[in-house]
Amino acid sequence: MIKSVLISPIKRYLLTKKMFRVAKKVAQSKGKKLMVIGDPCSGNYFRFMSSMFPNCEHGDVTVDLYGCDDCNRMDINDVSSWKLFDDDTFVVMETGVLGFSKDVGAVLGQIKRVSGGDFFSAGGNRGLLWVRYLYKTYSNELIYSMDPFDSRKDVYYCGVKLGQNVSFYIKRNDSRVRFRIKF
Ligand SMILES: C[S@@+](CC[C@H](N)C(=O)[O-])C[C@H]1O[C@@H](n2cnc3c(N)ncnc32)[C@H](O)[C@@H]1O
Repeated sequence: MIKSVLISPIKRYLLTKKMFRVAKKVAQSKGKKLMVIGDPCSGNYFRFMSSMFPNCEHGDVTVDLYGCDDCNRMDINDVSSWKLFDDDTFVVMETGVLGFSKDVGAVLGQIKRVSGGDFFSAGGNRGLLWVRYLYKTYSNELIYSMDPFDSRKDVYYCGVKLGQNVSFYIKRNDSRVRFRIKF
């Protein structure tokens, strides 16, 4: 319980902060724009907490379907919306949105295209109670919890499917819940 509601969210918060700084630096050094996927000032359980203590900033473009006025309110699952963005123009920093992907491979393919391979994500909550039950208290649309990803060192984008049998999660690499896609 403590892992699901406290340790995992705090770890994710701190990792998002750290990865955002890296993503911003990479964008500056490569002369690329920064795309943030996930509204930094809302979107979490406690909206006021997100706006008081944001885990990152808006990018040159911020994508979030239910985001604030500064966001591009785009559905990540709508492949035609991705066509707005040119190839290899962004460094992409993702914050807890890719779990809403209906087809992870397709969304990841668009991220790879627009980022030219510069992609960072702090992943999702990985507490056992969260992946089995509690995610439903956040959203019924959430399908996966992703692992963190840093394109400077990671090759495979991985995660688990939510709401499955607890025993599948205990065996860490059980193929009934775990997916692994080459980025
Ligand atoms: C966990 S929040 C991410 C931002 C938050 N500041 C954070 O880091 O926790 C998940 C966000 O995904 C957005 N979202 C849900 N479904 C989406 C979709 N299909 N396309 C784009 N954004 C979506 C929600 O509006 C929500 O703001």
